[in-house]
Amino acid sequence: MASRNGYAKVERYRGPEALTESDQRFRDLALAALEKEQVERGKLARLLHDEVAPILSCAGLQLDILRMDLEERVSGVSSRTAEIQDLLERVVRHIRDVSYDLNPDVVKRTGLQPALNLLVSRFQRVFPGRLRLAYDDSIRIPVEAEVALDRVANEAVANAVRHAHCTQIDLLVKSTGEGAKLQVRDNGIGFDYAGEQNFPHGLGLLMMDFCARKSGLRLSIDSNLAGGTVVIAILMDRNSPGT
Ligand SMILES: Nc1ncnc2c1ncn2[C@@H]1O[C@H](COP(=O)(O)OP(=O)(O)OP(=O)(O)O)[C@@H](O)[C@H]1O
Ligand SMILES: [Mg+2]
Repeated sequence: MASRNGYAKVERYRGPEALTESDQRFRDLALAALEKEQVERGKLARLLHDEVAPILSCAGLQLDILRMDLEERVSGVSSRTAEIQDLLERVVRHIRDVSYDLNPDVVKRTGLQPALNLLVSRFQRVFPGRLRLAYDDSIRIPVEAEVALDRVANEAVANAVRHAHCTQIDLLVKSTGEGAKLQVRDNGIGFDYAGEQNFPHGLGLLMMDFCARKSGLRLSIDSNLAGGTVVIAILMDRNSPGT
């Protein structure tokens, strides 16, 4: 089944008709559990970002007032309060980072490009190879599709980092004749995608497929045991041929 570029073109997900009823039910339950987890992560992220971080910032401001009240009477109070404020600022920055990492829908607030920039900096902390993003910033994508593209990108990069043993991951978002396209390519060991569809070892690929279907993206995954993996999601332009 090798194509001209050497990639084994893997069949698309064969759909529920290929699964037994209990397999399908199990997959639906697993996906519903993942969706629920995303909602809970969003709630926790909002709580940290919108409630905990502002209270700590407020404590820092109160310290300023205390310093002004006391600095003429108590020696060393300025430097002590500055130290505490510095600690508070570090905690607030840390809480904001954690809340962005937790929040699956940060893309709704910021848009796809900043969300992918965040994804890149998050994974750069743990991936020793080269991880790059090329983003055509003239591209316009509806929010619902941006959320789905972000989730596909997150899962594809997480998989590349965890499983591919690669030295390079390239993320690309650009406009094509068919529509807006996200591509995540690694130069790792590849895997048997068709085999994974029949006997899944995890939920990430199922989740990608689920998100893509829900938001009208065309997903394809080409993997070659010698040449790495390419995940492509295209938001098909309604006016392009074949839609
Ligand atoms: N880029 C990749 N390179 C090599 N192998 C991959 C790649 N992506 C996926 N795989 C293989 O496909 C399997 C299934 O991936 P999937 O994302 O569905 O599950 P997972 O990553 O193992 O677990 P989960 O995503 O649920 O935490 C992986 O265990 C891995 O063997
Ligand atoms: Mg995974």
